[in-house]
Amino acid sequence: MAYTPKILAFAGSTRKGSFNKKLVKIAAEAARAAGADVTYVDLRDIPMPLYDGDLEAEQGIPENAKKFKALLLDHDGVLISAPEYNSSISGVLKNAIDWASRPLPGEAPLACFAGKVAVLMSASPGALGGLRGLVAVRSLLSSIRVIVLPDQIAVPKAHEAFDTDGKLKDHKQQASIESLGRDLAGILVKIKS
Ligand SMILES: Cc1cc2nc3c(=O)[nH]c(=O)nc-3n(C[C@H](O)[C@H](O)[C@H](O)COP(=O)(O)O)c2cc1C
Repeated sequence: MAYTPKILAFAGSTRKGSFNKKLVKIAAEAARAAGADVTYVDLRDIPMPLYDGDLEAEQGIPENAKKFKALLLDHDGVLISAPEYNSSISGVLKNAIDWASRPLPGEAPLACFAGKVAVLMSASPGALGGLRGLVAVRSLLSSIRVIVLPDQIAVPKAHEAFDTDGKLKDHKQQASIESLGRDLAGILVKIKS
């Protein structure tokens, strides 16, 4: 039977009007159109406390962190749009990854990250589009055994970049983001078939 790639898409922002949520949804839709089974998750819907070793020791991994881990485990690929905060990764994204990296009893280390294939993108009102933050996100994910694909796109002037339908006004930029999603689906098919 033909393999259908399973891709989880999310942004490292909980903000309702998040540009990164809009961006990752474009790539997610293109991956879906290419035949992938895509799940979009809004981290706002699964709020996690700040990682605290005492909280983990006393109460275990919070339910929403377990939900996020389970979603990662259930998918082969991830599309992540990562806001840049102070030239680095957003706290929301780092915190979610930190919780997901904590093993459940009997679970292999980094079970929900090892061997996953990720594609990164970012959007920012700034001139560099969050490009510097992607350096940090790439480094972090690589160190927890995620295969991060080389192609990535940072969309600058994000406050002016989207139309009312959530598409990028610049057609070339829209096509580039779509190809990120499509390429992830295609590479997963090649790797897993
Ligand atoms: C604490 C903080 C730090 C930020 N640092 C940067 C930065 O270093 N570079 C940048 O381009 N934008 C920076 N921004 C602006 C964000 O890119 C902007 O708020 C963006 O809209 C966040 O992503 P979102 O729209 O997906 O929520 C920062 C914003 C905050 C709140």
